[in-house]
Amino acid sequence: MAILVTGGAGYIGSHTVLTLLERGDDVVVIDNLSNSSQKSLDRVAELTGKKPVVYIDNILNRDALKTIFSSHNITDVIHFAGLKSVSESIKEPLAYYENNVTGTQVLLNEMLASGVKHFIFSSSATVYGNPEKIPLSEQSRTGDCTNPYGTSKLMVEKILADFSRAQPQFRITCLRYFNPVGAHPSGRIGEDPGGIPNNLVPYISQVAIGKLGSVSVYGNDYPTPDGTGVRDYIHVMDLATGHLAALDSVDKGAAYKIINLGTGIGYSVINLIEAFEKASQKKISYTIVGRRPGDIAECWSDPSLARKELGWVATHSLDEMMRDTWNWQKNNPDGYKV
Ligand code: NAD
Ligand code: WQD
Repeated sequence: MAILVTGGAGYIGSHTVLTLLERGDDVVVIDNLSNSSQKSLDRVAELTGKKPVVYIDNILNRDALKTIFSSHNITDVIHFAGLKSVSESIKEPLAYYENNVTGTQVLLNEMLASGVKHFIFSSSATVYGNPEKIPLSEQSRTGDCTNPYGTSKLMVEKILADFSRAQPQFRITCLRYFNPVGAHPSGRIGEDPGGIPNNLVPYISQVAIGKLGSVSVYGNDYPTPDGTGVRDYIHVMDLATGHLAALDSVDKGAAYKIINLGTGIGYSVINLIEAFEKASQKKISYTIVGRRPGDIAECWSDPSLARKELGWVATHSLDEMMRDTWNWQKNNPDGYKV
């Protein structure tokens, strides 16, 4: 019995592969390394003493999937593979729909052909668009996504809902992550964005290490306590255990489930900068600039369904998130590039 992890060399995938191997699961990874390095999985092997089977290939390649499903006794698929840059998705919408939507359809077809019926999908809080009210529960309105990336996630959720009705033997869980940050406490694996980071925490940590000069804070005139954007940041190790909990609950409850993975706590951009300064003992220079188009004022989860359905709660504090991000950054100033 083995778990197929698509996108397993990536940021969240590598932490989840590590957590699966640590508890004794056999893991097969497919990743085309379009946004990752195989070194992440070498380090997972070094940390766990166990190796996943790795296929460097594209999920759009049906033959590769056929080979995997016929060569291994796969019981469950955790589907991380996809493109995730909001700004890139606006410039290259077709690449995003092909990878994220068509890629998922190809994978589901091959699962259907091979009789594999447990599927966990990486969705995102981005499907809620601009929230009418917070905290966001799974019942909150979705849609009005401001970019093709978000739309691609919502499209996959809808495809999965239809597919589940047509194939009731499938057990499908969509996990809507809030803002993943942090790294494995060893500092050996973590987030390695190529080029200048788009996301706040990698940006702050590159300012702390001296690679970037100053954080541009996108707006301090939002209707939030200090005027800067508020988000629900979640430690990547909590996300990893959330996936294990989803695997363990796959046969319970409804055949098609949607579940938020968040902490239920919102922090502002300024809260993050201050927490990072405390963790790194470095001064983080920042400048207030205009709002970033497409950004929303605040977004945090109601995490109660995850507790009820999966018996899972996030346990890491903001200080731990910043400590582990800094530990990864200072030990790997150039990420996986040596
Ligand atoms: P990531 O880019 O680090 O990992 C994705 C992995 O998928 C990469 O290793 C990439 O090489 C691989 N990949 C992409 N397209 C592929 C394809 N066609 N075939 C094979 N491999 C392919 O991203 P991540 O942060 O680990 O995110 C994992 C998943 O979670 C993504 O689907 C992302 O959209 C979703 N998600 C991420 C966040 C976030 O902020 N990090 C938030 C919500 C949801
Ligand atoms: C967080 C806050 C910014 C950078 C994105 C995607 C979302 C999900 C997670 C995948 C906001 C502010 C940021 C900077 C700043 N990904 N900020 N200066 O926008 O909440 O979510 O990543 O599913 O889909 O949209 O995350 O880290 O970019 O921003 O002031 O240099 O930090 O305005 O308030 P976001 P983020």
